[in-house]
Amino acid sequence: MTTNSKSGFNSSFGAIMAAAGSAVGLGNIWRFPYICGKYGGGAFLLVYVFFVFFIGMVLMMSEFVIGRRTRMTPATAYSALRPQRPQWRWVGILGLLTSFLILAIYLVISGWTLNYFWESVTGTLASVSNTGFEAHFNHFASSPVRPIVFIALFLACTALVVIAGVDKGIERVSKLLMPFLVVLLVLLCIRSVTLEGASAGIAYLFQPDFTKLTGEGILAALGQALFSLSVGMGVMIVYGSYLPVDDNILKSSMWITVCDFFIAVLSGVAIFPAVFACGQTPTEGPGLVYQVLPVVFNSLGGIGHIVSIVFFLLLTLAALTSAISLLEALTAWLNERGMKRVVSALLISLSVVVLAALASLSFGDGKLCDLHLFDFLDKLTGAYLPPICAFLTILFFGWFMKKEDILDELSNHGTLKVGYFKVFYYFLARFVAPLALLTVLVAGIVG
Ligand code: PFF
Repeated sequence: MTTNSKSGFNSSFGAIMAAAGSAVGLGNIWRFPYICGKYGGGAFLLVYVFFVFFIGMVLMMSEFVIGRRTRMTPATAYSALRPQRPQWRWVGILGLLTSFLILAIYLVISGWTLNYFWESVTGTLASVSNTGFEAHFNHFASSPVRPIVFIALFLACTALVVIAGVDKGIERVSKLLMPFLVVLLVLLCIRSVTLEGASAGIAYLFQPDFTKLTGEGILAALGQALFSLSVGMGVMIVYGSYLPVDDNILKSSMWITVCDFFIAVLSGVAIFPAVFACGQTPTEGPGLVYQVLPVVFNSLGGIGHIVSIVFFLLLTLAALTSAISLLEALTAWLNERGMKRVVSALLISLSVVVLAALASLSFGDGKLCDLHLFDFLDKLTGAYLPPICAFLTILFFGWFMKKEDILDELSNHGTLKVGYFKVFYYFLARFVAPLALLTVLVAGIVG
């Protein structure tokens, strides 16, 4: 297969920052710490490490190979690699549909986060009493206009970066934001672990409790590993199509995975010690970030105001680089069909903002029907679609792509050695990852 030239990332470092930007997001900072604590701390972590490095990273490598080999989007890449079986393109299309749905709920939560950042800056949040945060959040999330305004603002920022282009927009912004994000996170960790009583939070996060590691917990670990690494929906195929020709795919996948994993763990270290030190109990999802953490920030005294600003800024920026990747994947698809980048980005943005607004309205009295659209989309994109797409992707890679093509791509056309590490990952892609994904899928459906 020959590769055609098109715009892409200028350097491996830029590519790693962009893909790590996609991976590091709300899933790391908000979702990972909570499920890790819930399903047995250190015990969950063990299973999670296995899924992240032996399944998630395999998928990332596979998507990068498919993307760089074809320089196409998921909608066309599968059938280009396997012209005699054009029906494989449906896997790519399903992935893109999943990205669209994820982007819609992602925008709702990002809109909330941006609003909380704004309220931290203006001091509104600091003026709420410790018992009033639940009502404050519920009032905000269920109001008809304000959340949608923040969704639109957040989306406008996302679209601006995507319209600016792959290297001048995405790569440049990621190279700037990702190191900044790590600095913010480390500052938060230092503040959190130096509080009196912080050790209970560390224990909650790391102490292994195998009795809590249920089947549901194992499923959650796999779902989280896929979501967190942004794999299974073809977004990494699109980023793979922008990789420099001399990029060492397996090495980059490893750096991105390591970075994503440590940022998730650091987020737990930033959140739980502070939560326990302030006498709060960890709760799930929105409750933790928008109801419990503001109480923690208020309890920290003067510095709490700054910590609140830093935390919500961190969350907003992490969400931004992930939303960029989702919008980019969809934009690239229309772009590939001959539409200009700017028109594609605007068209996708307009369509997705409608779905996000409807999902946001499903929290309030203005909801259109009894279906809670947000919860429905959350379930669909969290538990079902990504593992299905991931399984089909890895099946294609391991069993339907030519082995010579894969090894050629992993070795950069023979310029890199095909050592044990590459062979081991190819083995994982062929046998371990599809089997593990299938088992977990079947267990999930049966369960
Ligand atoms: N990986 C992101 C997170 O952890 O928040 C979410 C995400 C981004 C999922 C891009 C899927 C995706 F394609």
